[in-house]
Amino acid sequence: MQSLYFGDLKVEVPIIQGGMGIGISMSSLASAVANEGGLGVISAAEIGMIEDNFSTNPREANKTALIKEIRRAKKLTKGVIGINLMVPLTDFTELTNVSIQEKADILFFGAGLPLTVPIDEIKKSGIKTGIIVSSGRSAFLILKYWDRHYGILPDGIVVEGPKAGGHLGFKYEDINNPNFALEKIVPEVIEAIKPFQGKNGKKIPVVAAGGIYTGKDIYKFINKLGADGVQMATRFVATYECDADIKFKEAYINCKKEDITIIKSPVGLPGRAIRNKFLIDVENGKKQPFKCIWQCLKGCNYKESPYCITQALVNAQKGRLAGGFAFAGANAYRIKEIVSVKNLMDSLVQEYEKVASE
Ligand SMILES: Cc1cc2nc3c(=O)[nH]c(=O)nc-3n(C[C@H](O)[C@H](O)[C@H](O)COP(=O)(O)O)c2cc1C
Repeated sequence: MQSLYFGDLKVEVPIIQGGMGIGISMSSLASAVANEGGLGVISAAEIGMIEDNFSTNPREANKTALIKEIRRAKKLTKGVIGINLMVPLTDFTELTNVSIQEKADILFFGAGLPLTVPIDEIKKSGIKTGIIVSSGRSAFLILKYWDRHYGILPDGIVVEGPKAGGHLGFKYEDINNPNFALEKIVPEVIEAIKPFQGKNGKKIPVVAAGGIYTGKDIYKFINKLGADGVQMATRFVATYECDADIKFKEAYINCKKEDITIIKSPVGLPGRAIRNKFLIDVENGKKQPFKCIWQCLKGCNYKESPYCITQALVNAQKGRLAGGFAFAGANAYRIKEIVSVKNLMDSLVQEYEKVASE
């Protein structure tokens, strides 16, 4: 396997552990992945859930927790640590600034078009940036905007296809349409960003994400479809080091193919999750009463929502699945056991090398 480079930032093994909110990928998982040569990503979204003052001062709690988690990850590894920052977060700018101050190695902007990023701070810090997109068109738009308005380009692009877990960047009707499969959109993004490739001597690596499960899949995306690396999330949930409660991990191990479903998230996007009683109740029109502790996502119309997505995801992370549900990728049902990150990374590399030598 060839290493992955974001500018001069080297990731020994070209596997990124995708950021998973809320509280699923924090310092424990991210540092374990980084220690195996991959890129470990902490999700900043509502990370303050681990703080006592989250319900009274979520904005402050998010900052405090992010600082703690970045520092902890850096103590646990000398490897590469990234931060996943969702553009629609109300405290997106503050959390981006915290990530810069705490010297994360790379920031990944997702769940929307990152058109208002604190670019001066990013430029001054020299910290690398990645964008997460689901089409060639949005990749092109973001690059054009950054180039024109900021005079810089992101250091990498993650292309997330419709088999990913969590919120998806597709319309409901396109999720199972083969024209939007990851195998189609990776080459599309590579083509769309060609006008920017090599500008200022910079190569922008393209990373494939969503439904990648085996070393053979990694081989396909890197050697047949032109990606420079892969991002995987679902498989990292079923590891000892993943920051979620054991019951969250067990939901993965116990789920069947038919349990993996697409939900209409209160934030207006489709999302992939494991169907459970909570989601069945929601489907049946049952509302879960809640009080919005703060408008954590810019576009959330909480008054019309049948439940609070943050509360549901926090409950699930803590193992209280009666009050929430687990986001998961399309392949979660294939997971049968919890393993160590080292075992998982070793097996992926071995499978890859086996296919490469055939
Ligand atoms: C439990 C879970 C939570 C996720 N949360 C986020 C998130 O907060 N931000 C984000 O950009 N992507 C999120 N994702 C997407 C992953 O980072 C990743 O790109 C995707 O799931 C890769 O596909 P795979 O899970 O099939 O490997 C999440 C995925 C899962 C499974």
